[in-house]
Amino acid sequence: MRGEAEILRYTLQFNVYIWFNWRHSRTRANLCFARFLPATFSQFDFEACPMFNRNAFERDKRRQAAAQGQDAQLKSLAHDLNVASYQYDYGYQWTWLGMPIIQLPPDILAVQEILWEARPTLVIETGVAWGGSIVFYASILQLIGEGRVVGIDSVLPDENRREILKYPFSHRITLLNGSSIADETLAAVRDLVRPDDRVMVMLDSNHTHDHVLAELRRYAPLVSKDQYLVVSDTCVEYFPDQVPRKRPWGPGANPLTALRAYLAETDRFAVDEHIDNKLLLTYTPHGYLRCVK
Ligand SMILES: C[S@@+](CC[C@H](N)C(=O)[O-])C[C@H]1O[C@@H](n2cnc3c(N)ncnc32)[C@H](O)[C@@H]1O
Repeated sequence: MRGEAEILRYTLQFNVYIWFNWRHSRTRANLCFARFLPATFSQFDFEACPMFNRNAFERDKRRQAAAQGQDAQLKSLAHDLNVASYQYDYGYQWTWLGMPIIQLPPDILAVQEILWEARPTLVIETGVAWGGSIVFYASILQLIGEGRVVGIDSVLPDENRREILKYPFSHRITLLNGSSIADETLAAVRDLVRPDDRVMVMLDSNHTHDHVLAELRRYAPLVSKDQYLVVSDTCVEYFPDQVPRKRPWGPGANPLTALRAYLAETDRFAVDEHIDNKLLLTYTPHGYLRCVK
């Protein structure tokens, strides 16, 4: 077991290594010279050090996330912070490449991780709003080098559309105006799915139980094996009613209740427990699902 003491020891050892090179180099630039490295590397066991052994580092991360998931006090603190900051529209305070993205930063980072890991060739999102999330997905797919994004919203002002489509990677984006559960919208989405696509779906439109359940029945079957289905705003189940404004969803009827009802109808999806455990400040508890078959 590598505990904190061991990490501290490695950190000190590494600092001595840096100091040694610094002290014995004529210029700071000499730090980079390979001629200094072999002798000191032999004294520093990078393989054994969890900071530089990627497998050990990943193992430790997972262990800590699992422990975090069992820590009721920590979860309660995170919940309180989530609810308190929700009153200030904390999730509205962020942008991606200049576009408002209505997500919490840890959720944005988690989605970046699943995009990188699962490499979808098609991301479908219901609920575009300003377009920050659509621009986010498309920019990451641009960096990955392949993939398209379809965004669906019942309200899609021309100004928003122009802003979303102004980026050099906007050729990856298709915007559809209409209700996400309308037959014609679904037909237009299906036309965009290619037989060999790896499809990921994000549901973030109307958060009522009935609407999300209807979306799940229509869009979840499009998700490919090993890709993700993300159901946003499952946090509503745990939030006090009407925080901060009156909504047609609340505890007892919301995206999480819809998701639970849908999971009783299918065995294709499993909650990604690792993501669930590590996200503390999130709008999407239990909402990251991997398609397992
Ligand atoms: C929470 S916002 C989306 C936020 C966006 N995904 C982001 O991360 O920045 C919800 C959006 O869903 C849209 N919406 C509401 N009902 C809808 C429906 N029936 N079909 C499609 N979009 C809908 C709203 O117009 C609104 O823009």
